[in-house]
Amino acid sequence: MSIVRIQNVMSNELSKRIFVTRPPEPPYEFLLNDPTDSIFIGITKLFGVPFTWNFANLANPHISVVGITGSGKSFFVKTFLTRASFVWNTNAIIVDWAGEYIAWVRNSGGVVVSLAKGDYMNLMDLSGTKPLDRVKQIMNAFDILTDISDFPEQRRLTAEAMEQAYLNAGFGLATLPDPRREVPTLKDVTKLLEEKLQEGTYQYPAELENTIYRLRQFSREGEDYFAKKSTIDLGKLATSGLVDIDLSGLPDEKFRAMAALFILQTLEVIMRAEGWSSNKGLKALVVLDEAWKIANDERSDAITIIREGRKYQFGLIVASQNPTDINEAIFSNVGTTIMLKIKFEKFLDYLQGSLNFSAYIRKEIGNFGVGQAAVDMSFNTSVQFPNVFVIERIVGEVPLDTYTITIGDILTPSEQEQKTIPKDYSFERIDMSSKFVDAGFSAEAIQKIFKGMDSRGRIIDIRAMMQILSAENIDKNVMVSFLRGIGLSDTLITRVFGYLAAQM
Ligand SMILES: Nc1ncnc2c1ncn2[C@@H]1O[C@H](COP(=O)(O)OP(=O)(O)OP(=O)(O)O)[C@@H](O)[C@H]1O
Ligand SMILES: [Mg+2]
Repeated sequence: MSIVRIQNVMSNELSKRIFVTRPPEPPYEFLLNDPTDSIFIGITKLFGVPFTWNFANLANPHISVVGITGSGKSFFVKTFLTRASFVWNTNAIIVDWAGEYIAWVRNSGGVVVSLAKGDYMNLMDLSGTKPLDRVKQIMNAFDILTDISDFPEQRRLTAEAMEQAYLNAGFGLATLPDPRREVPTLKDVTKLLEEKLQEGTYQYPAELENTIYRLRQFSREGEDYFAKKSTIDLGKLATSGLVDIDLSGLPDEKFRAMAALFILQTLEVIMRAEGWSSNKGLKALVVLDEAWKIANDERSDAITIIREGRKYQFGLIVASQNPTDINEAIFSNVGTTIMLKIKFEKFLDYLQGSLNFSAYIRKEIGNFGVGQAAVDMSFNTSVQFPNVFVIERIVGEVPLDTYTITIGDILTPSEQEQKTIPKDYSFERIDMSSKFVDAGFSAEAIQKIFKGMDSRGRIIDIRAMMQILSAENIDKNVMVSFLRGIGLSDTLITRVFGYLAAQM
């Protein structure tokens, strides 16, 4: 008896078999676009189709990227921005929470604006907005970030003082601003309120005092990041190529969120002012990486960009480790979701619930390696096919970081001459990192070692490395298993420990 039995199947029977009629990948004509008008991302896993992204067929150009730390979110963003700039001349503005993009932006010839490290943004800058509208935007930011909306009197006092400051500086509240005129700052606003307090005629002095206290948080010396003349021309934000707004120097999340909201508000104004053009592709991409505080508030301007971005050719990319941190309004409105490795069942539940993919895809996402991804696209079409598919790996545009451990110094002269003994061991960062993980190093130790290597130009002598490890109290057996893992002989391993003992 043969193992395989040929069955007679009628074609209508066959068509009921899901795999045959509906393979778990969109048809290639949806994935493969004109290379001069699309962005290459990677090769699909099932049918090997080069997936080139374009938003012509999508509900909108916005993208959400989710995945655990180290899964490749920022790598995807960098690759995407680089290609968008090649293909469409797309400008990019990165709201850089942790200063993750600085080195890459510098290397790519972009501009880095480092708040609190020499750069300032005046919250009262108008960039073409009427002062009345700007006051509304600032109050909206205060509503999101503070509890001022629970204190209507303080809210009113703040808004009125801002309007007064614009009037005093010679602006008309409801007229378009003269760009040559100097805008006031929150310091002027605070001063107006202080004068009012001193006059002593105001009915509720406690309310006034609290209002002043609130504003001083943003205007006191040393923390006046948003209360000094801007060091950048905000009006040019969306037309300056690649711009990284580094927020890592700001003292806390509230300041970072304030800066991020301010940038989004400014971009929104610019977007409307520029209007639609007949150019292909996207004019600008705005990146929010881990900016959950502003990505998950209903009132955030991120939501307006999401709702109206398409018609102005503005795209938003939101990246997060935790998909539930991204507001529903954003999540359900993005045209593309890139899912890198996700471990937590509750995040997988959330994604599967909202994007409706198969158990097969869910399992894949849980087991992805770095750079592997499932993609959800909401195509504008009545043709039925699965929206979620897997790509082998996001094919990078970012130079890979190589790290080297040198052992030359612990070799004897005769060993030095032997060609069979390597003098150094080089790995890409991910491989190095997985060797650390395999050996059982803690996450903190791994971070310290990379930091140590980064500060030494990505090259480290084996003895310096062992010192870091022993300072981190890494178990000796774990060290041995790491050294074996990179390929050191037992003789050399013993020698390394000899050096370590001698230094103690
Ligand atoms: N597709 C890829 N191909 C090659 N290397 C990759 C790829 N994706 C990520 N990497 C490498 O993996 C490392 C981690 O990637 P990345 O910084 O993008 O992670 P992340 O998801 O942004 O993490 P975090 O949440 O901590 O910011 C980087 O060194 C990066 O160069
Ligand atoms: Mg990242």
